[in-house]
Amino acid sequence: MDGSRPILQVQGLSAAFFTRRGVVRAVNDVSFSLAAGQTLGVVGESGCGKSATAMAILRALPFPGRLTGGKVLFEGEDLLAKSEPEMQRIRGRRIGMIPQDPTASLNPVMTAGKHIIEVLQVHLGMSHAEARERAAELLHTVGIPEPELRLHAYPHQLSGGMRQRLMIAMAIACRPAALIADEPTTALDATVQAQILELLRSLCAQLGTATMLITHNLGVVAGLCDTVLIMYAGRVVEQAATEELFARPRHPYTVGLLRCVPRVDQVGLAELWSIPGQPPDLIKPLPGCAFAPRCPLSSDECWEALPPLAPQGGTGHLCACWHADEVEGLKTWKLQESLG
Ligand SMILES: Nc1ncnc2c1ncn2[C@@H]1O[C@H](COP(=O)(O)OP(=O)(O)O)[C@@H](O)[C@H]1O
Ligand code: SF4
Ligand SMILES: [Mg+2]
Repeated sequence: MDGSRPILQVQGLSAAFFTRRGVVRAVNDVSFSLAAGQTLGVVGESGCGKSATAMAILRALPFPGRLTGGKVLFEGEDLLAKSEPEMQRIRGRRIGMIPQDPTASLNPVMTAGKHIIEVLQVHLGMSHAEARERAAELLHTVGIPEPELRLHAYPHQLSGGMRQRLMIAMAIACRPAALIADEPTTALDATVQAQILELLRSLCAQLGTATMLITHNLGVVAGLCDTVLIMYAGRVVEQAATEELFARPRHPYTVGLLRCVPRVDQVGLAELWSIPGQPPDLIKPLPGCAFAPRCPLSSDECWEALPPLAPQGGTGHLCACWHADEVEGLKTWKLQESLG
């Protein structure tokens, strides 16, 4: 495994939904690079464009979504230049996908075994016997006990955590170079969530998979992701190595998200907090910073001009805020006070 080999390079990616109500600019100028064995966390509230970014990368935007610009290089190949049949061979085989809700993605009349066997037969051309044997191994790998028995289980006979493990088994069946997990644990309770995330982490490290982990919970990325990309209103507003982001958040939105993470050492002392207000309507983008209506630091400049994603120091830390310097100096409690 070569940790520095770029697997996925996304450059200036933009996508929109052309609805009757207007054009929803869901993904705007998103760029990042993801190397083999690395995990990138994509974090933001619901509606910030996380799933649309993933779907745009896979060229699988639902109608009326369309790519409107940018480039996606996967192992050096331009995905936007591929035909649909070529993309079908890439999705599921070379780029695995784990969706938020396994129940919606599993066929209720197909056994666990059949789900995996089908993936192996379609993408790798395995015989039924070969695929069956491999399916049992995969169930074992993802921590499903008694795999031989579970091959015959239908989705409704599995717990939520088991169903998500099955989705992971299907996603890694072809040993993809990249994996996109879209809120893979949102539907699960906290203990199972932690187990599934640990499973994902260890599998990706073992297989050297470049992983994009989408979540609305910044707490999930700590200890799991190498880098984090914070999205707000369809744009990347902050990007940094995970440790750097947690130690020195520069965007007021990131500071707000950090305050939403429950802390074990503060149980009983602080109530779980949420950022006041709502993410904006992406059909009518503001001329300036999209976070201005919710931001305690906003000034006239913020309402007038869009802040560029600019380097913060020499560490690869990027932030799109006119007042990033002031955020660093702010104590979190002070920000909360002014927000509240
Ligand atoms: N099929 C669709 N048709 C129209 N608008 C959509 C569709 N899917 C998503 N959107 C809009 O695109 C924006 C980004 O959505 P999404 O990427 O799903 O957000 P997230 O995954 O961060 O919750 C939202 O404003 C959402 O309403
Ligand atoms: S640019 Fe202004 S409104 Fe936007 S996050 Fe920074 S301080 Fe707040
Ligand atoms: Mg989503």
